[in-house]
Amino acid sequence: MIQIEHLTKRYGAFTAVDDISFTASPGRVTGFLGPNGAGKSTAMRMMCGLTPATSGSARILGRPYGALPNPTRHVGVMLDASAQHAGRTGRETLLLSAIVTGAGGRAVDAALERVGLSSREAQRRVKDYSLGMRQRLGLANALIADPHVLILDEPANGLDPAGIRWMRGLLRDFADDGGTVLLSSHLLSEVEQVADDLVLIGRGRIVSQGTKEELLSRGGVVVDGTDRAALESALQRAGLSPVALPRGGFGAQTDPATIGRLALDEGLVITSLGASGGGLEEMFLTLTADDAREVAA
Ligand SMILES: Nc1ncnc2c1ncn2[C@@H]1O[C@H](COP(=O)(O)OP(=O)(O)OP(=O)(O)O)[C@@H](O)[C@H]1O
Ligand SMILES: [Mg+2]
Repeated sequence: MIQIEHLTKRYGAFTAVDDISFTASPGRVTGFLGPNGAGKSTAMRMMCGLTPATSGSARILGRPYGALPNPTRHVGVMLDASAQHAGRTGRETLLLSAIVTGAGGRAVDAALERVGLSSREAQRRVKDYSLGMRQRLGLANALIADPHVLILDEPANGLDPAGIRWMRGLLRDFADDGGTVLLSSHLLSEVEQVADDLVLIGRGRIVSQGTKEELLSRGGVVVDGTDRAALESALQRAGLSPVALPRGGFGAQTDPATIGRLALDEGLVITSLGASGGGLEEMFLTLTADDAREVAA
């Protein structure tokens, strides 16, 4: 269990994480989603005691990370897979962690097997690892002491599609065994299949959170028309904050009837209108629209 309450981080006048609160529960995978610079890594660093919070609290298994009796034993962390010592072999890296956490040397082979690194690969130096291999090693490192909680920052980064699917399975199994998983991503597609709960963050603030099903059911609408410029300005005037979608048309947080009335009032020709439940991607873009750099710029 991870409990975040009013967690805030300010760097001078800039607020990187702004009063966020959420819970990641045991037996569930919680996806922590947001565009680049949203504050995901900063929040995760605060959870693991690597960055002091300006205010608010983050408790893991009921206590702040630093107050856990043996934190590395209970909490598996992967914040930056490229932070491994380049000159050590994968096996040496894991052996050190096994010693530090008290997991014992025998945990090394189990961890290697769990992440699909062969013993030959484990003999190679980390500097010669591919990005995907580093991610696997980072995950092995996080898993070494058989923790109850996993905190992973962008673990799918650099994994190929088969690797992403493999990781999903690993995280699913971990949660199904009663573990708590918090994983961040800036790509919804990476987490939408595995996450049970989602926390969406933009510019340091939580824009939406809930179970994946809840968020899907309030996904808003996707609408397109013959005159896109007129449609967009009508949506804006109605206060519906339209988001231009990559494949054309607009996403908006409202229901089809509202759009229908608007089209009637404004004399617009609508060519398609539907709930955006087909994918969380539109919802993600819609919810983070005010926060994404591209839209703001
Ligand atoms: N030490 C620091 N000093 C000043 N600003 C910082 C510091 N660390 C992070 N920030 C700022 O805080 C904001 C949030 O950064 P953070 O790395 O948490 O984002 P993120 O959501 O992890 O993004 P990404 O998807 O790109 O990894 C950014 O604007 C960043 O520049
Ligand atoms: Mg980050």
